[in-house]
Amino acid sequence: MESGNIIQITNLSKTFNGNAVLDEIDLRLSHGENLVVLGKSGAGKTVLLKCMVGLIKPDHGDIKLFDRDIVNCTPAQLDEVRTRIGYVFQQGALYDSISLRENMLFPMLRNAIFLKIPAQEMEERIERNLRSVGLLDAIDKMPAELSGGMKKRAGLARALMLKPELMLYDEPTAGLDPFTAKEISDLIVSIQHEHGTASVIVTHDMKCAETVSDRICILECGKFIAEGDYKTLRTYHEHQVSMFFTT
Ligand SMILES: Nc1ncnc2c1ncn2[C@@H]1O[C@H](COP(=O)(O)OP(=O)(O)OP(=O)(O)O)[C@@H](O)[C@H]1O
Ligand SMILES: [Mg+2]
Repeated sequence: MESGNIIQITNLSKTFNGNAVLDEIDLRLSHGENLVVLGKSGAGKTVLLKCMVGLIKPDHGDIKLFDRDIVNCTPAQLDEVRTRIGYVFQQGALYDSISLRENMLFPMLRNAIFLKIPAQEMEERIERNLRSVGLLDAIDKMPAELSGGMKKRAGLARALMLKPELMLYDEPTAGLDPFTAKEISDLIVSIQHEHGTASVIVTHDMKCAETVSDRICILECGKFIAEGDYKTLRTYHEHQVSMFFTT
């Protein structure tokens, strides 16, 4: 039976070298919802995102995306689900040896077996997405010629190439000046509003969290220790919650 959830995670656990990074985690994400995951460095936020796209296999637990089981599925089924997800990696993850244009083209070519996108439509999408992040002028540049902020925006534009229903952002504003960070946060909100995209946003940037979140979960010692909207969590006195709001 269809749950209507974009993400449905039940009892998810992952241990590395005896360290329970994720310990029986449950998580739901609804259509069109923006969920922010907060947690200290090393809390397991990136591991959680990577489990969601099948890059890390959990020790046990269920992960359903769009009501499809992505833990016990074939590589081909996983590839097909991934065409519906945009992943903005913590480190940008552009391919260094090809131009920005080719980096944008790559997700469409890699998934050509599932998506029969005509060549002209590919070109139009590349230009549209680069324009939306202010990088159309840089289309023929190599990644090494881009600043840190430009690489972040390029990673975001690339994640949007397949018109995803779910976006996963890993620290989208880290290392950016406050002005560029605000631009990225505003872009995340406009992606949600214009395309009805649901998103999970991992961040330490509380301004970003305030701007983009419908709901916030705090990950600590392998568990979600608090959940609520920004305004509600800000009133909590427990140190593990309040420390995020007092920086
Ligand atoms: N492939 C791996 N092999 C072994 N340990 C790993 C692996 N990936 C992550 N870890 C460990 O899991 C823990 C959580 O890592 P993770 O990258 O998810 O943290 P994070 O919350 O994203 O931190 P940050 O805010 O610094 O990005 C860390 O202790 C890390 O060393
Ligand atoms: Mg991380």
